[in-house]
Amino acid sequence: MALRKIITEEDPILRKKSKVVTVFDANLKELFKDMLDTVNKAQGAGISAVQVGILKRMFIIFDHKDPVFIVNPELIKYSGINKITMEGCLSLPGKWGDVERPNKVWVKYQDQDGNIVENKFTGFVAKAFCHEYDHLDGILYVDKADKLFNSYEEYIKYKKSQNKADDKK
Ligand code: CO
Repeated sequence: MALRKIITEEDPILRKKSKVVTVFDANLKELFKDMLDTVNKAQGAGISAVQVGILKRMFIIFDHKDPVFIVNPELIKYSGINKITMEGCLSLPGKWGDVERPNKVWVKYQDQDGNIVENKFTGFVAKAFCHEYDHLDGILYVDKADKLFNSYEEYIKYKKSQNKADDKK
């Protein structure tokens, strides 16, 4: 198991555009393996290569419990609005926010061996895909968030107060 250091907000590399992957070799698989160890250790919902300091267009998300290894992704089409709104990021520890994401995405990418895969993700998985996809272009979820919270408790408190307000309507 090899853990990599997770780059946090203050590092300007997170704002850079990642480059297309052209070589599918053992090094790429090794990097994915390390990213998987790192995201599992940190209990994250996904991780992109830029978050461990490598500007390559690749990331890992989880389809339920199974990791999906994604290289050179393209977002073909999307629909709906995701009702699961809470979002966080391993590179922005302690922060939480609401971001609107599509409920369904049709995507194309390459797997670890360079094979082209066409896939469709929904709900939380679609949201995770969009979050990681943004990382590849230097976009962080805080750029899109409606409101930001400095702790999970603060976020839950706000949600509860909102639900109460909705009940009174
Ligand atoms: Co993130």
